[in-house]
Amino acid sequence: MSAFGTVFAPEMSLASYEQGQWSAAQIVKTDSISLHPGAHVLHYSSTCFEGLKAFKHEDGSINIFRMDQNIARLIQSSELLSLPPVNAEQLKQMIVDIVKRFAADVPLPPGSMYIRPTHIGTEASIGKAAAPSSASMLYILLSPVGDYFSGGSKPLRLLLADETRCASHMGMVKSGGNYASALQPILKARKSVQADQVLFCPAGDVQETGAANFILIDGNEIITKSLDSSFLHGITRNSILAIARDRGMTVSERALSVDELLQRSQKPGAEAALSGTAAVLTPVGTLIHDGKEYTVGNGEAGPTTNALRQALNDIQWGKTADKHGWLTKV
Ligand code: COI
Repeated sequence: MSAFGTVFAPEMSLASYEQGQWSAAQIVKTDSISLHPGAHVLHYSSTCFEGLKAFKHEDGSINIFRMDQNIARLIQSSELLSLPPVNAEQLKQMIVDIVKRFAADVPLPPGSMYIRPTHIGTEASIGKAAAPSSASMLYILLSPVGDYFSGGSKPLRLLLADETRCASHMGMVKSGGNYASALQPILKARKSVQADQVLFCPAGDVQETGAANFILIDGNEIITKSLDSSFLHGITRNSILAIARDRGMTVSERALSVDELLQRSQKPGAEAALSGTAAVLTPVGTLIHDGKEYTVGNGEAGPTTNALRQALNDIQWGKTADKHGWLTKV
C-alpha cells in the first residue's frame, strides 16, 4: 500500500467565500487550485483542516464516523483563526456528496477513505498581517488509506520533551502551523534516539504528540490530560474514552505529570497508546526521558489497548451495534 495520504481521489468538492457569502459547492479536479501568491494563507497561516474517515461495511454501505464532531471542530478552528464562518449544513453536504461519488474507491477494512476538509484564507493582501482574510476556500480531499504508522500496530518509541508543541492557546485548533512547529523536535528525536514521535510535556505536564493524543492505561484506569486550549481535542480520544466507560473502566481526565507517567508506566501490565483518526489507537512501548529508556509494561501491545482498538474498529466497520449513533450512512 502507498504511504498514508499520498493517493487522492481525482476530484474534490470545493466552495469559495467572497463578499460575505459562500458559493455553491462544485466538483473540481484534485490536481491543482489557483491561489494568488499574496494569498493570506501563504503568509499568515490562515488555515485549518479536519481528518475523518469513511468505512465500507460488509453489506457494501459506506459510513462516515463522527462527521458532526469533525464539522463542529472545523467551525471552531475557523472561528479561532478568524477565517470566514463555515456553514455546517453546506460542509456536511459537501462531505457526503464527494464520499458518495467515490464510494466504489473506499477500501475494505482494515483500510478506509480518509476525508480531509481544508479551509484556507485566500484574500490577496500581504498588508493584512493583523487582520483576517475576507475570502476563503473550503475543499474536501479524499485519500484511500491503510495504517498511518508504517510499523502498523508495532509499539512506538516516544521521546518526552520539556517543550510545547505550539502556542498554548492554539493547541485546540487543527491548524497547519501547529504541525509545522512540532517538526523540528520530531526530526531531532528521530535522529538522536530513533524515536517515532515526541510527547510534548511542557513544565512536566504530559500533553500530546505532534499528530495524536496520549493515554496511559493502568489496570482498569485510563489517565489522560483534561481538555484545555493547549492541545487538540481528539475525536478518537473522545470515542476511546466513551468505549472505555462503556466497558466499566475508570476514565481520569486530569493533569498527568512526567514523574507519575514514568513511575506508573513501569508497573507490570501498564500500557500507553496514541489516539487519532490516522493513528487509531497505536501502542507505545518505550518512553525516553533525560537519556534513559523506560519500557511501558512489557513493551508489547497490551490487551486493553488491543481491546479498545478492536471495539472502536468494530463500530466503524459495522461489526457491533453503533449505540452512540456515531456513523452516518451516505
Ligand atoms: C488525523 O489523525 O486525522 C490527523 O490529522 C493527523 C495527521 C498527522 C494525519
